[in-house]
Amino acid sequence: MSDKYDLVVIGGGPGGYVAAIRAAQLGMKTACVEKHSALGGTCLNIGCIPSKALLNASEKYAEAEHHLGDFGIEVSAPKLNVKKLMEKKTEIVTGLTDGIGFLFKKNKVDWLQGTGKVTAPGKVEVTPAKGKKQTVECDKILIATGSESTPLPGVEVDEKQIVTSTGALELTKVPKHLIVIGGGVIGLEMGSVWKRFGAKVTVVEFLDRIVPTVDQDMGKRFKRVLEKQGIEFKLSTKVTGAKTTKTQVTLTLEPAAGGDTEELKGDVVLVSIGRRPYFESLGLDDLGVERDKRGFIQVDEDYQTNVSGIFAIGDAIPGPMLAHKAEEDGIAAVEIMAGQSAHVDYNLVPNIIYTWPEVASVGQTEEQLKEAGIEYRKGVFPFSANSRARANADSEGQVKILADKKTDRVLGAHILGPDAGTLIHEICAIMEFGGSAEDVARTCHGHPTLSEAVKEAALAVDGRPIHI
Ligand code: FAD
Ligand code: NAI
Repeated sequence: MSDKYDLVVIGGGPGGYVAAIRAAQLGMKTACVEKHSALGGTCLNIGCIPSKALLNASEKYAEAEHHLGDFGIEVSAPKLNVKKLMEKKTEIVTGLTDGIGFLFKKNKVDWLQGTGKVTAPGKVEVTPAKGKKQTVECDKILIATGSESTPLPGVEVDEKQIVTSTGALELTKVPKHLIVIGGGVIGLEMGSVWKRFGAKVTVVEFLDRIVPTVDQDMGKRFKRVLEKQGIEFKLSTKVTGAKTTKTQVTLTLEPAAGGDTEELKGDVVLVSIGRRPYFESLGLDDLGVERDKRGFIQVDEDYQTNVSGIFAIGDAIPGPMLAHKAEEDGIAAVEIMAGQSAHVDYNLVPNIIYTWPEVASVGQTEEQLKEAGIEYRKGVFPFSANSRARANADSEGQVKILADKKTDRVLGAHILGPDAGTLIHEICAIMEFGGSAEDVARTCHGHPTLSEAVKEAALAVDGRPIHI
């Protein structure tokens, strides 16, 4: 048996590894149990990072194919080498996951490689892929075991023809027809990648709109932009079954409200209907750790479960299933353990879809404000009136800022446009400080920048934009 730890974190994803490093900085003797052969979790290995590597590569491809010529830069038609693309993606991922190993050493966090099981409060059994089990003792346990793709009954994933995001990041050739089930973040990001590389892409969505949690007006605009790029949508439609031959998958579709069935054939099907928390072989139920109806671990404001000494963060608990939220959870949880006060406001967690244009939002949508009966003013500014977007010939989309009608305090912002994911952070900061639209409007913004569109939207809240 090893020396006793102050904290054992189970799961080395962005929630777990960041929590472990912060705990060590705070002077706790810390170990992180991770069963995968690399640290970094879903995000670094099969999520955020590989998907962004492919999105970036496919943007470059589309640029060469469709846009460079507009500036008189004449290049021959681009040719994709999928093997090389995947090698580059792996190199990027490995560089980052190895970096976490280095950070663990630097901060004296022990990586216990193996599957963790909580056998009792203060006791974690670690089973490595090879070799003997060990049990480590600790004061506190932090569960950061993340999530997995939600399965769709009747559509069995084989990660070759019927894939989750993991298989969609590993395809060995461009599909002829990629059918995406679920018009959410994964479906639209991965659909964009393979569409740009030449696949026909059809998105089948159960609801009557895509990205249902996004501000509806932005969601509608986003759908129109994706349609212009050639992505096809079948809304209000459910998939009731799948038949597979060597080269083809045939899906049976039915209107969501019921009615006549139809068939849709493709060579690859991506199932992306959401993710669910993951606790396999963790032993939680034996310990009586409470979970909510959707399976997420229930925690109090200190991230502690109903079992004293067992804490949980990230995708394993309710809230946005995002890497930066998991990180903030992790830091707050261990700072609270160390006696500090910390809190993560989930309303201020930005949400970004890394398509082109990007979609970024923070705070409340117009629908949420209306439902809550909060009176608001709205300022909208299109990128077509922003000089930098025009100089870049990349002016699709708009910035929308929502502010309290009486106090002018910013309540939400929604951006569809180039680099929306970077631009949104100005609003995150202003909202964190309880600032107003006037604060943004009176801040000097560099020219010519895309950020000026944010300033103009803030001016528009008060009906005084300059460039429209
Ligand atoms: P995870 O990252 O899932 O890590 C959990 C870790 O725990 C895993 O490494 C797992 O192996 C380990 N584990 C589980 N059980 C055990 C056990 N019993 N013993 C030992 N180890 C165990 N979020 C963003 O913010 N931005 C993005 O751009 C983004 N893109 C994404 C793209 C895709 C395709 C996917 C699938 C997700 C994406 N996400 C993105 C979501 C993001 O990956 C997750 O929100 C984030 O990884 C959650 O972090 P976590 O630490 O809670 O869990
Ligand atoms: P999602 O929740 O974003 O979207 C799922 C979509 O599938 C929704 O539109 C939903 O209405 C639809 N759906 C549900 N059941 C269906 C059915 N039976 N048939 C057809 N459609 C159905 O989930 P997704 O895309 O799987 O992503 C999971 C999570 O991963 C995201 O919610 C997000 O938290 C995270 N993620 C974040 C990214 C980012 O930050 N850029 C990128 C990728 C994933």
